[in-house]
Amino acid sequence: MKYRIYTLSLLFAVAAGTTVVPSLHTRSLDVDACPGYNAKNIKKTANTLTADLQLAGKGCNIYGADIAELRLEVTYDDDSRIHVKILDPHNQRYEVPETAFPRPTSKSNQQSSRSHIRFDITPSPFSFAVVRKSNGETLFDTKDHPLVFENQYLRVKTSLPEKANIYGLGEHSETLRLDERNTTRTMWARDAFGIPKDSNLYGVHPVYIEHRTTGSHGVFLLNSNGMDIKLRADEASGTSLEYNVIGGILDFYFFAGPSPADVSRQYAQVAGLPAMTPYWNLGFHQCRWGYRDAFEVAEVIANYSKAEIPLETMWTDIDYMSKRWIFTVDEGNFPLESVRQIVDYLHEHDQHYMMMVDPAVAYTDYPTFNRGVESGVFLKEDNGTIYKAVVWPGVTAYPDFMHPNASAWWTNEFKLFFNPETGIDIDGLWIDMNEPTNFCDYPCVSPEQTAIDRGMPPVAPPVRAPPRELPGFPFTQHKESKVKRRDVEQDLINPPYAIANDWPNGISDRTADTDLVHANGITEYDAHNLYGSMMSVVSREAMLARRPGLRPVIITRSTFAGAGAKVFKWLGDNNSFWENYRDSIAHMLGFASIYQMPIVGSDVCGFGGNTTETLCARWATLGAFYPFYRNHNVQEATVSQEFYRWESVAQAARKAISIRYRLLDYMYTALQLQHTTGTPALNPLFFAYPQDEKTFGVDMQFLYGPYILVSPVTAENATSVDIYLPKDIFYDFETLAPVQGAGQNTTLEDVGFDSIPLHIRGGGIIPLRSESAMTTTELRKKHFELVVAPGMDNRAEGSLYLDDGVSIEQEATVDVSFTYFRGVLKATGDFGFDSGISVKTVKFLGIDKKPRKVTVNDRVLDGGDVTYDAETKVLVVATSLPLTEGFVIRL
Ligand code: NOJ
Repeated sequence: MKYRIYTLSLLFAVAAGTTVVPSLHTRSLDVDACPGYNAKNIKKTANTLTADLQLAGKGCNIYGADIAELRLEVTYDDDSRIHVKILDPHNQRYEVPETAFPRPTSKSNQQSSRSHIRFDITPSPFSFAVVRKSNGETLFDTKDHPLVFENQYLRVKTSLPEKANIYGLGEHSETLRLDERNTTRTMWARDAFGIPKDSNLYGVHPVYIEHRTTGSHGVFLLNSNGMDIKLRADEASGTSLEYNVIGGILDFYFFAGPSPADVSRQYAQVAGLPAMTPYWNLGFHQCRWGYRDAFEVAEVIANYSKAEIPLETMWTDIDYMSKRWIFTVDEGNFPLESVRQIVDYLHEHDQHYMMMVDPAVAYTDYPTFNRGVESGVFLKEDNGTIYKAVVWPGVTAYPDFMHPNASAWWTNEFKLFFNPETGIDIDGLWIDMNEPTNFCDYPCVSPEQTAIDRGMPPVAPPVRAPPRELPGFPFTQHKESKVKRRDVEQDLINPPYAIANDWPNGISDRTADTDLVHANGITEYDAHNLYGSMMSVVSREAMLARRPGLRPVIITRSTFAGAGAKVFKWLGDNNSFWENYRDSIAHMLGFASIYQMPIVGSDVCGFGGNTTETLCARWATLGAFYPFYRNHNVQEATVSQEFYRWESVAQAARKAISIRYRLLDYMYTALQLQHTTGTPALNPLFFAYPQDEKTFGVDMQFLYGPYILVSPVTAENATSVDIYLPKDIFYDFETLAPVQGAGQNTTLEDVGFDSIPLHIRGGGIIPLRSESAMTTTELRKKHFELVVAPGMDNRAEGSLYLDDGVSIEQEATVDVSFTYFRGVLKATGDFGFDSGISVKTVKFLGIDKKPRKVTVNDRVLDGGDVTYDAETKVLVVATSLPLTEGFVIRL
């Protein structure tokens, strides 16, 4: 790979602030020919390795001067994790703060000899490898790819197998398995309307899983600076993965796997286990930007109920705000009294309400802004004045969520605004625009808009940067790339290595200037990617103060690694395109299965542009299998897309929601497991079939919970779909009849627009509510049915977790394990409280003939309680087993 050399004269020109660096590089250099470092003073203990790294010769000096001495620190954290740090021992370089990413603990008695992976060092030239001990396979190897470590450019490159299966490195809307030959993943949070491919999006999660039939491993680089991670394949140097990072230190975690789910779990130990959702949040949500007033919101709620489509949670976008000022209501269109009526109505009907709060505060004389000024919480310029950006209200100030007063100020605003007295008693919070987004460089707004700055009434909010995907939108004018610089050492606006940010004018384009300094001394250059996460941390504190003891529901747009421990995520501004519908699956799986943010989903029916009846119908069924299921639409769309707008879509939604709700406890149980262990609740097919190479690229099908295979129709207006069934036994979800998977594709025909193909994977026991309901509160009163779906080995297992559905600390829970082997079903576990719910039916699938007798806890059942269908091979046992104690059923 060729890089351009950064000549001394250019360095001086840059320092003088006269030029933009990247376009002026003149010579090219093969970085792999750089001399790198030599390791000296290598020391090993039972669980560590340290070394001094000394620059070989004069170094490369590609994007600045190479740092002469580095320190390598390796720790075997436990038997499946190695922590590798490379830092500058003479200068404290930026590291991601603990507030944004609390560090995991390592086991103090860990012995490297017990680890499943090994760190190998080659002293001269320095390189390192991570090797799987059981088979000697090299998992990561920097040999022949010298380390480059400069002030604003760090490069680490590993060789990969020729056809490497790499997953992760989000946020992106690429295929689930990245193209190992030519992918650049840029880590720089950005307001990415249309969620384009080959682009940096809202979140930053520099972690990947590499999967091989011999095992999976994972690599996480804990670094919040901008970076390009390049996957390349060429004949000369083979396949490789290269980190190009513009600051911080190298702080790697290597995970041993060996299964893909093991890697997820091991990553969760570092990034934090995901926050548990309340039960109600798994219900269906309706939102739209552009509901013009409280009446329209009320109308939508009423229409859902009239159409008999369960609506669990109604949302209001920025429309409720006065002039887009956060913590205000538009007294004309959303008067407090009306909002109160909406909230009361929803609560009386066991429904919920969520509202949006943006980070940007109108820069004008009003209480929230004034209190923020008094608390000193806004991001400031060098000269101490508040930094101004332009977001919905016009001129705005950004809260510095790293400021020591930020949490108290934000919590107080929540207390004053969102409470039963004001009537705005929200159940959950939506946080947006937290990349943070800036429409243009202040003072780029029109004279009317700058008038807001002087406290005068605002005019309409500025037009957002238009989507790339929708032709015909004129792009707004942006200023020339900025040339402000802090010092010669650090060019915080135009760093010498320019990451491939999709906005054209560098890293400060359409966001906060990267040379701003947060209250804790960290520059926005270093902390840009943490803004959404820090807003999440502070918002969680505010919501907890509002609703003590209750699991907060906060849906955010921008995330950094580890955000899942605090908040949930929606996938941003997709379009009403079939492509976006398809891509949503891989996009969601990245968050749910790899980045440990399982409460995730795309805007159902599509956000931007106009949806169509068939797309919306299909999306209503696919969305029912997103953990977070919300229909949301842009204000400009002329087509309204609430599910009741078309009878076909209403029908699709009713059917899909009914299945989702019947499976809600199955999913809730899987999410609780992920919350406590990191075991993913959603799984790409290869997680379940890691030996089957044909599953490695599958990303239009996925496992919802461990056992429900979801295979949506993916082509526009099609009624058939080719699906892959691994060599395994499956059961059709509707008929419950066995379907033998042959390890090949099979075509499903006549899939109506109200249907989504579902199969139960053999080996599972699925608890379903006996019927659906209009709200999750009602649903929780329904009895259960168990579906026992034996695997090829005639075994099955499953679990059911019940709690109060809302509290962080539970006084008592029900946690049941089900096992089945050759005709014997056992339920054992903890029965901490009496939910009043029983198992009323047990369906045994794949039963070859009707058993002579069936006993329940040794009591022989009457013939009438047992029915058998020879065609579908389903045996149905009617019973009544309260979930207060275990039971045994024998066939
Ligand atoms: C951008 C968000 O992504 C979108 O969902 C929201 O509707 C608009 N902001 C308006 O708040």
